[in-house]
Amino acid sequence: MDKLIIEGGVPLQGSIRVSGAKNAALPILMACLLAEGPVALSNVPRLADIRTSLKLLNILGCETTFEGNEAASRVVDLKPEAPYELVKTMRASVLCLGPLLARLGEARVALPGGCAIGARPVDLHLRGFERMGAEFEITEGFIKGRCKGGLKGAKITLDFPTVGGTENILMAASLADGPSTIENAAREPEVVDLANFLNACGAKISGHGTSVITVEGVPSLSGCDYRIMPDRIEAGTYMAAAAITGGELEILDCPFSDLDAVSYKLREMGVWLQEEEDYVLVRRANGLLKNVDVTTQPHPGFPTDMQAQLMALMCFGQGTGTIEEKIFENRFMHVLELVRLGADIRLKSRTAMVHGVGRLVGAPVMASDLRASASLVLAGLAAEGTTTIERIYHLDRGYENIEAKLSGVGARIQRVGG
Ligand code: UD1
Repeated sequence: MDKLIIEGGVPLQGSIRVSGAKNAALPILMACLLAEGPVALSNVPRLADIRTSLKLLNILGCETTFEGNEAASRVVDLKPEAPYELVKTMRASVLCLGPLLARLGEARVALPGGCAIGARPVDLHLRGFERMGAEFEITEGFIKGRCKGGLKGAKITLDFPTVGGTENILMAASLADGPSTIENAAREPEVVDLANFLNACGAKISGHGTSVITVEGVPSLSGCDYRIMPDRIEAGTYMAAAAITGGELEILDCPFSDLDAVSYKLREMGVWLQEEEDYVLVRRANGLLKNVDVTTQPHPGFPTDMQAQLMALMCFGQGTGTIEEKIFENRFMHVLELVRLGADIRLKSRTAMVHGVGRLVGAPVMASDLRASASLVLAGLAAEGTTTIERIYHLDRGYENIEAKLSGVGARIQRVGG
């Protein structure tokens, strides 16, 4: 398995380009199942999860191609079953449930099971489909759904603004018979990107980006050409990289307006951010960082996907800050690894108390999930000496060309097989 070896202590300098958003590309790829014509996507990041999604589309009866950052898909002969081999490697596979129910009136999707950052059930997805007339049976490790007579538009009020649940229901509602309303919907920019894609295919969705989304079901969707939005979490990670190394980065293709909660906290810590026409300039304002209190929340609150990276940065801040994780129940696995590098972090239930220590010292560490890996890379970039990060396949699920991008701005980082 590959490892990353980082020699820390180099202030990063230069420009770094943000790739397309994984969390927008995944649902949009699943939405290709809804389209009767061909779909051509650009700015698709070359990541393991994208390849898994394309494999899933093939199994479900699509022809696909993936060259450079362009992916294409065309439905040839739709099939209703998503096997465990794919779903277990990527939970987002469950996003094919809505499209399959809408197009075929049936779907069999392997149950995703638990994952490293918590139980992550899909009960809210299923409850939404039930409101639209679907019936489910969980048997033999599969969610088996049926909808005699097709999906009917419905009013669905989510208990929690689940991102995947909103996306799944949105896709199903696009082809349902009659109007639907999703209340307490997720407002994440990736949900908006999916809705924009669906509208480009002929769907009638409005209110996306607010907590009430309305959908007028249409009989069919065409294909379209669509550019995936840039990845706000990757952009936020590179902002943290500039700050943690005391360098200065120009972040190109940065979706700055989607990062308000992150830039607010970074500025509060003493990071200087300036939006220019083509990039966002980031550096430490006056050399010192100050620790802050953060609570993760659904968008537009502080994203859980930036929590681990902010924690790495706070190891270098002055004073004590707290990070409360409100979205996932087990998302602090990076804490013990950061402690191996010399961090002083105490955990109490869902809150981490981070005492700034000013310096970390490189050591071998292990990545446990995608964003935990990103926080270890950040820590390694700023730590004295050598940090070796194992299990970086987690990182490859969400960061395109991370070592090439970071070495391009001066980091001493290399991947070795082993
Ligand atoms: C998506 C993102 C992930 C991000 C998360 C929260 C993708 C591919 N992944 O994940 O990177 O961290 O949003 O911003 O876009 N829940 C239920 N029942 C459900 C659905 C969710 O209890 O039916 C719970 C989950 O267990 C979790 C919380 O709700 O505790 C948030 O989940 P959700 O918003 O659905 O996240 P994902 O779509 O899985």
